[in-house]
Amino acid sequence: ALYQATTSAPVNIAVIKYWGKRDTKLILPTNSSLSVTLDQDDLKATTSSQTDPSFTKDRLWLNGVEEEIKPGSRLATCFEEMRRLRRKVEQSQGEPAISQWFIHVASFNNFPTAAGLASSAAGFAALVSSIAALYKLPNSPSELSLIARQGSGSACRSLFGGFVAWQAGTAADGLDSYAIEVAPREHWPEISAVICVVSDHKKGTSSTAGMQRTVETSTLLQHRIKEVVPQRMTNITKAIKDRDFDTFARITMADSNSFHAVALDTEPPIFYMNDVSRAIVNLIVEYNRASTAAGGPLRAAYTYDAGPNAVIYALKEHIPEIVNLVSHYFPQAESARSPLGAEPLPAGFNANIIVKHEVGAVKNLILTRVGDGPRVLGPE
Ligand code: DP6
Repeated sequence: ALYQATTSAPVNIAVIKYWGKRDTKLILPTNSSLSVTLDQDDLKATTSSQTDPSFTKDRLWLNGVEEEIKPGSRLATCFEEMRRLRRKVEQSQGEPAISQWFIHVASFNNFPTAAGLASSAAGFAALVSSIAALYKLPNSPSELSLIARQGSGSACRSLFGGFVAWQAGTAADGLDSYAIEVAPREHWPEISAVICVVSDHKKGTSSTAGMQRTVETSTLLQHRIKEVVPQRMTNITKAIKDRDFDTFARITMADSNSFHAVALDTEPPIFYMNDVSRAIVNLIVEYNRASTAAGGPLRAAYTYDAGPNAVIYALKEHIPEIVNLVSHYFPQAESARSPLGAEPLPAGFNANIIVKHEVGAVKNLILTRVGDGPRVLGPE
């Protein structure tokens, strides 16, 4: 191949949830959202792209399996949009006209799809940053996020590390609907996450289909969009700037609850959390109650996306305690046990409040933290 580039991109988990589109083709949201980018040393998508005059069509392999790039699909849109940016550079700076050639892309996740983690955000962010490196584009991460957004809405937030907002925007063409950095990882590197992978055998409603149904049928969504989210965006942004974990945690849990409430307010209703998810909520509520009894701040915040897995955000110093608690009440299969070993329950913790679950109800724990944005691994 004449040109080649490899990049990696991170996963992000929202603390203010994106749920609802005002334009399904351009992927424009009904509300702004905000996420924490997770460390690529633990979770990432790695994408290599090549372009060569001998290629006869655009092709894409995901974890070694070829995906069809259907005309008019989100994937096809991303390829077209990246070519459009390259053509600008060719026209204005006389760069070689490689935008005429087809592209081959191969993408890998370093986490199993079976982990139950949304991989599309990291995947589309890695696709866009890989082709941007291939084409040596001068565009900023915010500009590239406009294109990742058209692959999957939440993907636009994976163009930055740290704490990232996706501004909903108001323009019909979507040009003001992009991601911005609220704070880099270095601003608050203590933010850590415990991902509890919860067993789930049945296939649920996809985010894309679910949110569209919510837009069409939920009255509660209108309240969320107009009154609830704008306030929370302002307040959580301030909490992040002030490194105020207590406020960050309260808003994070409230917004997860609000998102699952609008899912329930959908016709027919959508249930993403299951009994184990709800038991983890109770565990975190009790942990926070015990640790704030002496007047201290909250120590943990749960959040759930369109599935039963819990993501627990906490400061690094409290992670061992949280891992021990989860492992105590949700013992895992031998192969997935925490390396931290058993410790006593925290002082004041009411052990009677939580029902201990069967072995394997939480299949796996992934310990990670706030991370950086896409990395260029090299135009080789
Ligand atoms: C619950 O970004 O997967 O994770 O734009 O249709 O591809 P599409 O949806 P997607 O939705 C993510 C929903 C969420 C909340 C969030 O990440 O903000």
